[in-house]
Amino acid sequence: MVDTDGQATAARFAGRRDEAGYTPIVRCVQRTCEVASTLLDLAVRYQVVLVDAGGRDSREMRSAMAVANLVLVPTKASQADLETFPKLNELIGLARVLNPALRAAVLLSMAPSNPMIREVDDARELLAEFNQLKVADTIIRDRKIYRDALLSGKGVTELGNSQARAEIQLLAQEFFDLS
Ligand SMILES: Nc1ncnc2c1ncn2[C@@H]1O[C@H](COP(=O)(O)OP(=O)(O)OP(=O)(O)O)[C@@H](O)[C@H]1O
Ligand SMILES: [Mg+2]
Repeated sequence: MVDTDGQATAARFAGRRDEAGYTPIVRCVQRTCEVASTLLDLAVRYQVVLVDAGGRDSREMRSAMAVANLVLVPTKASQADLETFPKLNELIGLARVLNPALRAAVLLSMAPSNPMIREVDDARELLAEFNQLKVADTIIRDRKIYRDALLSGKGVTELGNSQARAEIQLLAQEFFDLS
């Protein structure tokens, strides 16, 4: 993992995991500004390199998108969160001038688990108009286990909640060819 976000959520997660001695080890480095050369270097040594680029336009986000295979944008389905997408759609279009193979998808996350709430369907409809992004089939629901996992240093696939585990396994199948 490459954590480029000053909040260092990913780096602190990896630190807790390391301290607890859980395996497999998740390596995490913190980098700012231009990260493309770091990513190209890491790609030689690792099967998967995940970059946490924070939620807004930045040099980190732009330089990562210049060399990435996939940009995955987690968002809540709420109107306020969706308002940032015109700008993001434009940024991904720019990145594709340099990196035409870049795949891009929105991941609806923290979705209400109550099926009566239509937010996810509404968000899908709204996001369909952004030509640079597809909407992931996988949906991540709002579950306390994700917060617990973050603090514990484990992934939800290593914890006891079968629904969360299934969500993350679907996500991995949809986007990562780990065979
Ligand atoms: N699906 C989920 N269900 C419940 N809680 C979640 C879920 N996803 C994230 N959270 C919790 O929400 C908080 C924020 O999550 P996270 O740090 O992933 O957000 P972020 O989008 O990276 O924020 P930022 O834009 O500030 O970097 C954390 O406490 C996290 O555990
Ligand atoms: Mg973050």
